[in-house]
Order: sequence, then C-alpha cells, then structure tokens
Amino acid sequence: MGFLASGNGFYFVFLVLFFITFSSPQVASASSEEVGALLKWKASLENTSRLTLWSLPNNANNSSTPCTWYGVSCNADGSVIGLNLTSSGVTGTLYGLSFSSFPNLAAIDYSMNNFSGTIPPQIGYISKLTYLDLSTNQFSGIIPPEIGLLTNLETLHLVDNHLNGSIPKEIGQLRSLSELALYTNHLEGPIPASLGSLSNLARLYLYNNMLSGPIPPEMGNLVNLVEVYMNMNLLSGPIPSTLGNLDNLTVLHMFVNNLFGPIPQEIGKLKSLESLSLFSNKLSGSIPASLGNLSSLSLLHLYNNSLSGPIPKELGNLKSLTDLELSENQLNGSVPASLGNLSNLELLFLRDNQLSGPIPEELEYLTLLTVLAMDTNQFYGHLPERICQGGKLQNFTVNNNRLTGPIPKSLRNCSSLKRLRVEGNQLTGNISDNLGIYPNLYFVSLNDNNFYGELSENWSRCKRLTTLHIARNNISGSIPPEFGNSTQLQELDFSSNHIVGEIPKEFGNLNHLLKLVLSNNQLSGSIPQELGSLAELTYLDLSANRFSGSIPTTLGNSLPLFQLNLSWNNISEEIPVQICNLVHLTLLDLSHNELRGEIPSAINKLQSLERLNLSRNELSGGIPKTFEAMSLSSIDISCNELQGPIPNSVAFMNASIETLQGNKYLCGNITGLKPCKNPSAVNKHDPKKSHKLVLMISLPLLGSILLLCAFIALFISYERKKRKPEVEQRDVQVEDVFSISAFDGRAMYDEIVKATNDFDATYCIGKGGFGNVYKAKLQSLGIVAVKKLHSLSEMADRKGFIDEVRALTEIRHRNIVKLHGFCSHTRHSFLIFEYLERGSLATILSRDEAAMELDWPKRVNVIKGVAHALSYMHHDCSQPIVHRDISSNNVLLDSEYEAYVSDFGTAKLLKLDSSNWSAVAGTYGYVAPVNKLSPMFLTI
Ligand SMILES: *[C@@H]1O[C@H](CO)[C@@H](O)[C@H](O)[C@H]1NC(C)=O
Ligand SMILES: *[C@@H]1O[C@H](CO)[C@@H](O)[C@H](O)[C@H]1NC(C)=O
Ligand SMILES: *[C@@H]1O[C@H](CO)[C@@H](O)[C@H](O)[C@H]1NC(C)=O
Ligand SMILES: *[C@@H]1O[C@H](CO)[C@@H](O)[C@H](O)[C@H]1NC(C)=O
Ligand SMILES: *[C@@H]1O[C@H](CO)[C@@H](O)[C@H](O)[C@H]1NC(C)=O
Ligand SMILES: *[C@@H]1O[C@H](CO)[C@@H](O)[C@H](O)[C@H]1NC(C)=O
Repeated sequence: MGFLASGNGFYFVFLVLFFITFSSPQVASASSEEVGALLKWKASLENTSRLTLWSLPNNANNSSTPCTWYGVSCNADGSVIGLNLTSSGVTGTLYGLSFSSFPNLAAIDYSMNNFSGTIPPQIGYISKLTYLDLSTNQFSGIIPPEIGLLTNLETLHLVDNHLNGSIPKEIGQLRSLSELALYTNHLEGPIPASLGSLSNLARLYLYNNMLSGPIPPEMGNLVNLVEVYMNMNLLSGPIPSTLGNLDNLTVLHMFVNNLFGPIPQEIGKLKSLESLSLFSNKLSGSIPASLGNLSSLSLLHLYNNSLSGPIPKELGNLKSLTDLELSENQLNGSVPASLGNLSNLELLFLRDNQLSGPIPEELEYLTLLTVLAMDTNQFYGHLPERICQGGKLQNFTVNNNRLTGPIPKSLRNCSSLKRLRVEGNQLTGNISDNLGIYPNLYFVSLNDNNFYGELSENWSRCKRLTTLHIARNNISGSIPPEFGNSTQLQELDFSSNHIVGEIPKEFGNLNHLLKLVLSNNQLSGSIPQELGSLAELTYLDLSANRFSGSIPTTLGNSLPLFQLNLSWNNISEEIPVQICNLVHLTLLDLSHNELRGEIPSAINKLQSLERLNLSRNELSGGIPKTFEAMSLSSIDISCNELQGPIPNSVAFMNASIETLQGNKYLCGNITGLKPCKNPSAVNKHDPKKSHKLVLMISLPLLGSILLLCAFIALFISYERKKRKPEVEQRDVQVEDVFSISAFDGRAMYDEIVKATNDFDATYCIGKGGFGNVYKAKLQSLGIVAVKKLHSLSEMADRKGFIDEVRALTEIRHRNIVKLHGFCSHTRHSFLIFEYLERGSLATILSRDEAAMELDWPKRVNVIKGVAHALSYMHHDCSQPIVHRDISSNNVLLDSEYEAYVSDFGTAKLLKLDSSNWSAVAGTYGYVAPVNKLSPMFLTI
C-alpha cells in the first residue's frame, strides 16, 4: 500500500472510510442506496431527456429497483454493476454522484456527453471498477492520483477532454490495466517511469498532449504491449533501446516530438512491428540496417529528421512494406537497387535528401506504386524507362534534380498519372510528341528544363488538367486555340519561351483560370477583349512580349485580379478608366509601353494597390491629386510627359528622384525637383514637345546611323537616369563575396568554383579580351558560361559598375545572351552568362564543315537575329545601349542556329581600351564605332 507509505494523512482517513464502507454487509440495502444515489445525481444534471425512466413510481416504496433504468445494469442480486450513458446528451458534473454507494459497480461508460468539471478523487472508492470511460466530454483539471486505487481497472479511457497537469505516478499501481488511453488532452510533464509496472498493458495511447521529457526506459518491461501511440507531444531525449524487448509490439508511433539521437538498432528486433512512425523529430545518425529484419513492417515513416548516411540496402527485405517515407533528411549515396524487391510498395517518398546517382531502373518492378516522390535531391542520368509499368502511378515528382534525357515512353502512356513534376532538371525532347493524353492528370510542371517543340493541343484533351507550367524552356510555335476547351484550367504558365502568335480568343472560355503567365515570349497582336470574361483571374502577367493595340477595357471586369503586369510591350492608347475597377490590385505594372493620355483620376479606387509602375510611356497631363487618398508603397512614373505638382502622398514623398525624373515640369518638395511656385500656374505649353515630335517624324526618314546616334545622344540627354529593376534582385554581401543576381551569391560562387574545379583548364571554352570563358553546370541555372575576369582593378567607379551590371541582367531578348549575374571575391570575379551550344559565329565560320552546315537561310536568320538585338538595344531598351564591338566573335548560336549577341555593355563595363570610345552623356549610351560595325557582315 504505497499510499500509506506516502505518509499523507488524507490517504489514511480515506482508507479507514474505505474499509468501514465496504466491510459491512450490504445485501438488502444495496439497491435502495443505489437508487437514492442515482436519483440525487440525476437531480443535479441538465438535459436528462434520456433519463426519464430514472424515477420512482408514484406509490414508491424503497424496494424499487434501478435495474430497468436506462443505462443501468445489475447483477443477479439486483445491485448496479454497470452505468452506461454513452452519447446520451447529458450535461452536468460528477460532483453529485456518491461513488461509495455502488459496491458492485464494475463498468462506467459516460463517454460522449457534455460532462464538465473535474474528475472527483472519490472515484477511487469504486473498488471493483474494471472499466472507466469518460472520453469526449469537457472534463478539466488533473487526473486525480486516487485513480491509483482502482487496482482492478483493465480499461481507462479519458481521451478528448481538457485534462491538464501531469500523468499521476500512481497510475503505475493499476496492475490489471491493459488499455490506457489519455490522448487529446492538455497533459504535460514527463511520462512517469512507474508506467513500466503496468505489466498487463497492451495498448498505450498518449498522443496529442504536451507531455515532455524522455521516454522512460522502463517501458521496455511492458512485454505485452501491442500498440504504442505517443505521437504529437513534446517528448525529447533518445529512443530507449529497451523498446527492442517488446516482442508483441505491432505499432510504435512517436512522430512529431523532439526526440533526438540515433534510432537504436534494437528496434530491428521488433518482429511483430507493422507500423513504425518516427517522423518529425530530431533523430540523427544513419538508418540502422537492422530495420531490414522487421519482416511484418508495412509502414515506415522516418521523414523530417536529421538522418544521414545511405539508405541501407537491407530495407529491400521488407516484403510487407506498402509505405516507405524517408523524405526531408540528409540521406546520401544512391538509392539501393534492392528497393525494387519491395513488391507491395505503394508509396515511396525520398524527396528532399542528398541522394544522387541515377534513379535505379529496378524501381520499375514496383508495380503497385502510386506515389514516387524523389524531388529535391541530386539524381542524375535518365529517368527509368518503364517507371509506370504497373499502371498505378499517380504522383510522380522528380523535380529539382539534375536529370537529363527525355520523358520516358512509359510515362507518356501512363493514364493513371495525376500529378507530374519534373521541373528544374535538364530534361530534353520535343514536347509536342513527348506527352500523351492523360484522363486523370491535374497538375503538370515542366518548368526550367530544355524541352522544345510546340504546345500540343493534346493538353486540352486532359480533361482534369488544372495546372500547366512549362515556363523557361525552349517552346516555340503558337498557342493552340483548343486550350480554350480546357475550362477546368486554373493556372497556365508558359513564360520565358519563344512562343509567337496571338493569345487565342478562346482563352475567354477558361472561366476557372486564376493565373495566366505568358511573359517573356514573342506573343503579338492585341490583348483579346475576351480575357475580360475570366471572372476568377487573380494574376495576369503578359510582360515582355510584343503586344500592341490598347489595354482591353474588359480587363476591368476581372475583379479578383491582384497582379496585373503588361510591361515591356508596345501597348498604346490611353489607360482605360475601367482598370480602376480592379479594387484588389496590389501590383499594376504598365511600364515600357506607348501609353498616352492622362493617368485616370479614378486611380484612387485601386485601394489595395501597393506598387504602381507607369514608367517609360508617353503619359501626359498632371498627376491626379486623388493619389493622396491611396496607400501606395512604391511608385514609378519616370520617363513620361507628366507635369505639375507631385501629390502629397507617402509614396511620392518617399519616392527616389529616379522614379520621378524624365518628365516635363514636375515640381514639389522633393530633393531633385523644383519646388512648386504656384501650383495653378504650371506652364501649359512645352516647347520641347514639338522639338521631339520633329525628331520622331524625321528620324525614320533619315535612317543613317549617325543621325541615330545623334538621336540616342539627344534622348539620353533628356533621360539621363538609371533603370529601376522590375525583377526582384538581391545584392548579396556575404562574407567576402559580392554578387548581383537573383540567386544566393555565396552559394552561386561556391557552386561555380566547384563546377569548374576551381577554373580548371578542361572547363575552358574560350579566351577573350577580359578573361577566359568556362562552361559550368549549375543546379540552379543549368549550364552557364562563366566569364572569369582578369582583374577588376581598373574598375574605376564601383557603383557605376554595379548599376550597369544590374541593368544588363535585366535585359531580356531572344537574341541577346542573358547575363545572369556577377560575383566578386578576392580570388575571382566573374560574370555569368547563358550558355549557347554552338559557340561563336567566328568559330563556326572557321571550320569548313560547320560553315557548310550554316546554309544561306540560316545565315539570313542570323543577320535578322543580330538586327533584332541591335534594334532592341538601341530603341526598345529603356537606356539605349550601343554594343561597340559587334563582330562574329560576339555572335553566338544555339542548337537551333538562333543568333544571340553577347557582351553588350561589357566592353564599357571593364573599361577595356576605354580610350577608343567616348561616352556622350550619362551612364548609358555610347557612340557605336562605325568602323567596328562591319566585320561580322564581311565575314559572312
Ligand atoms: C455502452 O452502450 C453502448 C451502446 O449503447 C455500447 O456500444 C458500449 O459498448 C457500452 N459500453 C460498455 C462499457 O459496455
Ligand atoms: C439533449 O439531449 C438530446 C438527446 O440526447 C440531444 O439531442 C440534445 O442535443 C441535448 N441538448 C443539449 C443542449 O445538450
Ligand atoms: C505475445 O502474444 C502472444 C499471443 O498473441 C502470447 O501468447 C505471448 O505470450 C505474447 N508475448 C509476450 C512476451 O507477452
Ligand atoms: C498526390 O499529391 C497530391 C498533392 O500533394 C495529394 O493531395 C494526393 O493525395 C497525392 N496522391 C496520393 C495517391 O498520395
Ligand atoms: C475545341 O476547340 C476547337 C477550336 O477552338 C474546336 O474546333 C473544337 O470543336 C473544340 N472541342 C473539342 C471537343 O475539341
Ligand atoms: C519640405 O519638406 C520638409 C521636410 O519634409 C519640411 O520641413 C518643409 O517644411 C517642407 N517645405 C515646404 C515648402 O512644404
């Protein structure tokens, strides 16, 4: 009797009472005392509609029996042995129930009612109790230690209440207990070591509490344990190796805790184990090979820990396994081919590790597989040829690896496929015949690969397709109008390809479309009015194309729109006032177009707008004062023909001069602007306007380069300013690495040094004036050309340099080699460019065979490409940039013989022989040396 030993006076009194109550014989009076106790309790309850029978007949005498009452059961002597009120809708507490009145009570089931209050300590009086279930009520307070007196208890269920405090150590005295369920409460503190004394315990459910501290090693004594659920607590410390003694254990769930240390290899002794789930802890070390002995295991969840080392090949012995999830660890090495033996496997998750090597062909034997998730690793090589052999594959994700080659044939015919993610690899192949018709497919991402070919109308036959991402590939051709049939589509992203033609009017049928991204292609024509019927559209990006015509007034109907980007097109006419109906817009970018007229004064209806860019248009008139009622955080109105006072709003007052300049007569209390003398007397006539008009008419007539240069010089003298980058860029100043790119500078630097083996000569693909060029294969960008600079010491003006590199990384044109960024370090400095397979035109022309291959139609195309690039840089670019070193060495060709001009601006950047050039004015714009313009054309 541990209670006496505790020396607590209360227990002593309690025990005395206990013996007085139960040692006296209670044969005839038992029933009447029970009746009295039940009726007294009933009187304290509410909503006792189910308990109407609980009453005495009118001519009551005390010999009435409760045995016929609802929920009451009796023994042969008419004494109550069971009270079962489960799901009776009763509201109340247990305070009015005299527990000591029921000497024979063996089972209480009060589950699923509205009982509240605490569990009275007097519950310990019911000495014969074997079954106690108070689950799914509103009980609060602690579990009374007196519960330890119920030594006959076999089942204790207190789940789904508001119990708090810790599990009383007295619970260790329930030697008969076989089922202990305390889950979904607010229990805290440690699991008492005394639990190790419950030698009959078979089922232990402690999950979904706030239990902390270590798992007591004493649990290893509970050899009858069959199921253990301790998941979703705050348990910490190691998993005790003693758990390996639990021969009959079938379920061990300890996921979502703070357990750390290794998985003990003794776990491999649990021959009966069917489910082992330890995910979302802080377990480290490697996966013990002994787990391969768990011959009954069907579920193994170890994901989201810090496990390292390889996947043991012994896991291939787990013939019963249906679900293997090892994602989000630091596992490395290759995937053992033995996993192909897991013939019952349905789910295989290995994502987010550091696994490498090819994906083993043996996985083809997993014919029951429905999910194969191997994304975000370092897998390389081709995809297994018959990966969908079983015809059950639904989710296939291998995105963000370094896979090459085509999408295998078996995936093309994989009609079970629902979700396909291969983005961020170097997969190739013609997409138009690469993919079939999938009746169940709903999500596809092919972004950031090297797929080419045209968009197939087959996509529109995938009747469930909601998301189609094919951004940043080499897709050409136009958008098939059949896409308009895919009315279930929600997201389309075809950005950064070479798609031509118009947006099909049929797009107006896509009434569930939420997101449409077609930026950075060569789409043309006007934006179809029909887009206005996309009533659910939230995101529309058509930037950097060749759209012309006006902004459709119907766009004002797409009320949910919150981002609208039409920048970098040739859109003209006025900004339709209907745009101001888009009250959810947070971003509106109409920059780099040919918009005319005034900024609509109803602009203040855009109450959610945070960023507004109207720069580089031909907007005129005053800036509406209504801006003052808006909560914009950033504005760019530079390079228009706006005039008059700047509105008195935060966005304008905090605007840098770069975002305001290049207008007519803007005035205001802002550094760089003239103060407004008399706002009403703004000069209405602008002499410079007619001046400019003359230029605009005469220039096309006089097409000479010299005049062009004069124009550029003039243009620049008006608009001497910097570009405001649209794309979010980060300047990373990490340790000694400085970089400009959309990527992490330090990581990029390390990756490049690693990829080129510290600029080993074997990676060198060319030598140039400023330095050697290396080919580097990066995970983030694929293959790039890295131009390592001899020296940056001549870099006179660091800020100017940074601004120019940043501007150059902004240039997006099909015929201009993309500058990804710049990294500088005390050891190396380099520029990172797009890599083009066929190298320079000069090299091709110097090799007879290659030169033959470059036939006349291709050469004409090359010249066209160069002309497009030059025209773009001279006219369409915000700051005209003149190349100054056009030669066949600076024209690179891709695999399709498309021309890309390289080294725009870099000659100036690096001050190479800068005496040869003379800058006209400002940062940008240099006179093209006429003698240097010809060599390329001579060479051809
Ligand atoms: C209580 O009654 C319900 C049905 O009304 C039954 O399912 C449940 O098993 C009973 N509880 C006990 C402990 O006998
Ligand atoms: C009262 O009990 C009935 C029957 O059990 C139940 O349907 C009802 O929801 C209860 N009402 C309240 C207020 O608890
Ligand atoms: C395991 O369970 C079996 C029956 O299922 C039983 O015979 C055996 O005694 C149990 N083992 C232990 C160690 O309790
Ligand atoms: C496939 O992935 C989706 C999204 O992650 C998920 O909702 C779905 O349950 C997965 N399918 C299977 C069979 O697991
Ligand atoms: C799909 O669209 C095309 C062209 O827009 C149309 O001719 C065809 O009838 C539509 N329906 C189906 C089922 O393809
Ligand atoms: C201009 O702004 C400054 C600070 O923002 C303020 O102190 C000053 O009074 C303003 N001048 C006028 C004329 O509003």
